[in-house]
Amino acid sequence: MAVGRIPDTILDDILNRVDIVELISGYIPLKRSGRNFKAPCPFHHEKTPSFMVSPERQIYHCFGCGVGGNAISFLVKYERLEFLEAVGLLAKKAGIILPERQKEDPQVASFISQLYKLNEISALFYKDVLNSTNGLSAKLYLERRGINDETIKLFQLGAAADRWDMLMNHLRTKKINLSLIEKAGLILPKEGGGYYDRFRNRIIFPICDIKSRVLGFGARVLDNTLPKYINSPETAVYVKGRHLYGLNFSKDSIRESDYVVIVEGYLDFIIPFQAGFKNIVASLGTALTVEQARLLKRYTNNVVMLYDADKAGEIATLRSLDIFIEEGMNVKVVSLPEGFDPDIFVRKNGLDSFKLKIQQAQGLFEYKLTVLKSRYSPEETEGKVKIASEMLSTINKFKNAVSKSEYIKRLAESLDVGEDALLQELKNTKEARPNSGGMPEIQAKALAINPTEKLLIKLMLEESGLIHRIKDDIEPADFQDSRTARIASILFDLVAQGKKIEPNLLASHIGEDDILRVICESTFMPDVSLEDKDRIVDDCIRRLKLKKVELQRQHLHEQIKSAQHLGDEEKLHSLLEEFHHLIKRGE
Ligand code: CTP
Ligand code: MN
Repeated sequence: MAVGRIPDTILDDILNRVDIVELISGYIPLKRSGRNFKAPCPFHHEKTPSFMVSPERQIYHCFGCGVGGNAISFLVKYERLEFLEAVGLLAKKAGIILPERQKEDPQVASFISQLYKLNEISALFYKDVLNSTNGLSAKLYLERRGINDETIKLFQLGAAADRWDMLMNHLRTKKINLSLIEKAGLILPKEGGGYYDRFRNRIIFPICDIKSRVLGFGARVLDNTLPKYINSPETAVYVKGRHLYGLNFSKDSIRESDYVVIVEGYLDFIIPFQAGFKNIVASLGTALTVEQARLLKRYTNNVVMLYDADKAGEIATLRSLDIFIEEGMNVKVVSLPEGFDPDIFVRKNGLDSFKLKIQQAQGLFEYKLTVLKSRYSPEETEGKVKIASEMLSTINKFKNAVSKSEYIKRLAESLDVGEDALLQELKNTKEARPNSGGMPEIQAKALAINPTEKLLIKLMLEESGLIHRIKDDIEPADFQDSRTARIASILFDLVAQGKKIEPNLLASHIGEDDILRVICESTFMPDVSLEDKDRIVDDCIRRLKLKKVELQRQHLHEQIKSAQHLGDEEKLHSLLEEFHHLIKRGE
């Protein structure tokens, strides 16, 4: 169980204080349906809603794909959080203060937090430099690029002076040891011994995670010398491809507008943001990764790529966009005119023009096809083959069979080749990677569990009082299904310990997925009216007992047959006796 070190009582407290309906409707629109709420499942593709949320039981469950659980497990799945992160988030919502957790490895934890601290101190230092005489030329440069003071403050922009050891000396006065500073990527060893500052005579852009912790820095020259940018190396806290520049500032706007614009550079992020376009992030010039796609997926499913004309048209860039399709997201592409990047475009043409450009974004399929057709000659066989193969690798990534066949049709028309040939080629292109967190298409069947057993579980989950009665009459082993048997045994144990039973609390203590699923499914079985409950419980118990006798009878029957076959008179005699005994008891 991934419960970590948070005491069960606190977990229960948190779950009791948050409302799962409120929580889930913050992510997807829920519609009332009788006593429950319904929606199309956010975890798999479907047309008719089979995702249910119960306000009374504080549980969700999808009858399509079988996922289910409580508020914590919803957050874990939807926001792709760790268990403890989800608990932390809910605790905050519930106004509960979690006890300080003991870190897994105090040494590693303190090293990591020292790096964050060191980055923070350095960011403050660079900010102070920008405001000092050492930062005059940097300040002028930022002004020339149209960045105002408010923006400088918001993004904690700074400057590294034209000196070899300013940051190092500053950190040394704070008694920070050199090896830590080196591990943070802020200084480099000199050949003859000693160190020097990595960033000198440059504008400093702190790179933060979504919690606004400083992970590292990007640094730009003030003129045309090369390299234009120097960045922090990868460190224990800065892993490239795991973060997106600016997301800590733009995540709320992204969620609100339900789409995100991805640009390449620091300035391409900052200038539109300053102008009021806030649902934007920057990839910092590297190919996008699955982690980044998933990070964005927490806030929206819709992505608009906005790269410079040349870069957007590169096959490698286009290929990297397939990641979003694999994650079940929608991707559109805008390419700016020759010589423009988002920063220049906004400054020259204004925000309205920029917004218009984004509205005119083309779907990835169309965009890619246009680019490929202009690159290879679609009239010639060789060109057709190249274009088809690039397009098919994208089409192959779509999870939905209908979209796939629709795109095949369009591609066939556009290249003037037969659909059959493309379908044949599609089969030949490598199978898409096994589902990497995208939306699964397959429909899970409802669990094959005897309805009587499921009903008994439902009733026990609803009323602990019934458990005592049932416990007196039957044993967990009387449940024929191993999962219901296991749940019965858990419930029997809990009441024996005098514990309260609530399905949503139970869900965070149960690690086995199939068991959790039975609990969720039985929760959503049609309700039984109060006056009928006793009768139904009796009836279920009677049926379970009958079933048990029936199975025993079948078993004996087999044994008798085999004893007859072997001519084992003695065995046959005792088996027959047992058989009569059983029948008498069953009557
Ligand atoms: N980049 C980098 N190292 C380089 C060049 C570029 O890390 N030597 C990254 C930076 O994050 C940069 C992005 O790639 O912002 C895009 O590069 P480019 O388009 O060349 O720069 P711009 O962002 O347009 O920079 P500027 O407008 O300041 O010239
Ligand atoms: Mn630029």
